[in-house]
Amino acid sequence: MNIPLIKALQDHQKNKPISLHVPGHKNGRIFHPALADFNSVLPYDVTELNGLDDLHAPTGVILQAEQAAAKLYKTAETLFLVGGTTVGNLAMMYGLFEPGDVVFIQRNSHKSIFHAAQIAGVTPVLLSPEIDLETGLAIGLRVETLEEAIKLYPEAKGLVLTYPNYYGVSLPVQSIIEYAKQNQLLILADEAHAAHYCIGTPFPPSTLELGADVAVQSAHKMLPALTMSSFLHISHKLNYDMRHSIKEALAMFQSSSASYLLMASLDGARAYIESLDEMKITNILAGVEQVKKELATIKQIQIVNWQENYLSDPLKVTIRTTTKLTGFELQSLFYQHHLYTELADEKHVLLVFGLGENTLPQNVLYELAETLNQFDVVEEMTNETVVVGHSRIKKLGLSAKQIRSLPKKKVALPAAIGMIAAEPIIPYPPGIPIVIPGEKVDAQTIAEIEMLKQAGAKFQSEHELKDVWVVNSEDEHE
Ligand SMILES: Cc1ncc(COP(=O)(O)O)c(C=O)c1O
Repeated sequence: MNIPLIKALQDHQKNKPISLHVPGHKNGRIFHPALADFNSVLPYDVTELNGLDDLHAPTGVILQAEQAAAKLYKTAETLFLVGGTTVGNLAMMYGLFEPGDVVFIQRNSHKSIFHAAQIAGVTPVLLSPEIDLETGLAIGLRVETLEEAIKLYPEAKGLVLTYPNYYGVSLPVQSIIEYAKQNQLLILADEAHAAHYCIGTPFPPSTLELGADVAVQSAHKMLPALTMSSFLHISHKLNYDMRHSIKEALAMFQSSSASYLLMASLDGARAYIESLDEMKITNILAGVEQVKKELATIKQIQIVNWQENYLSDPLKVTIRTTTKLTGFELQSLFYQHHLYTELADEKHVLLVFGLGENTLPQNVLYELAETLNQFDVVEEMTNETVVVGHSRIKKLGLSAKQIRSLPKKKVALPAAIGMIAAEPIIPYPPGIPIVIPGEKVDAQTIAEIEMLKQAGAKFQSEHELKDVWVVNSEDEHE
């Protein structure tokens, strides 16, 4: 089996090593007894010892592990990340753009993309994605939006896509990528949820196959890998200088003490995908289908069937209820039965399955059905999704840096309408900002925040979300 980094760590253990180096747990010898369960992995939590290479200048087993990943993903280079896709997003944008560059960014990007834009000092032009009317979820950009954006901002240098969305769904992206390429835009993709798309049909294609220049994937989300382990993939189209800039950025943003546990898990995750043959994949997906069938017998639950023209990940299942429960309330009923789902929004709950056996214990399903049976099925389902009224193409009036030096005030949410936000408003999960600093707040956005609050959403905010910080001067910045 080709697992160079894992093998090197195992060989190191065979020598019964005596640790006179960091980390302070000394191969697990010194550790809090409450964490005794960690004992079997701590000996692998080592540092850049002889034979174990160095993530920031790999020439040995880490390089070999990265090259094996590059071969699988058909990239020029694949770099291991120990700070999640977050760090990859920061590095790709900081490495490839100059301050002041106009960059098209899909409006429903993860906050790390907006932080990256801030750090890189680029001028973001936000492109609103299409909204699926049945669910109210953003599902991807339309080529017409990009065409219009290029007409307005022909000087733009790049396009940052998010593919797929958190629910594993997207509009086809081929035509967008082709159009962006024809217009010499660099195409960067946040593919946090697509590390398994390299498997091929029935999974959708990765943007890398379709012509993206860089893509970052959270291996830890959909592959069997440890949390915070990700891949940054570089296509053959990037020249040496560009690749070098990304690596320089990673050296700045990533820890100089990269975790060998995370890196070994990336080596293992790649080897794991390689071990999946057609039969195994068929069985994995048959498991998901069986669970869907079982859930469908509960009349208080409906599985969302995405439109045929969407690309959707068969390992992700979005459900909604046919009762008056919100998605958050439905999720808490799942929790009561120790079914821990990935996320909820005002209407839905997202279940994420894995690349292995997928089943739910019959007794748990039965008990869940009993609990849900207490709720009446509503005859006519209302479809009152609030679709946020972001205009399709929007340049931010102020950068986060400019905002820092301006006077600010805290106002009640409804009073913020028409003002420029000085802080982000981010429901988490999924971590996609509803409001971005520098953006003029509109009435529909406030309505959506109120609706999410009422439905029980959690927000990442330092204060209670009845107020919001805005720029004090109501000057016309936009
Ligand atoms: C679309 C998207 N991009 C980036 C991230 C950040 O990824 P990570 O947690 O690997 O840093 C997430 C996390 O949920 C995400 O959903």
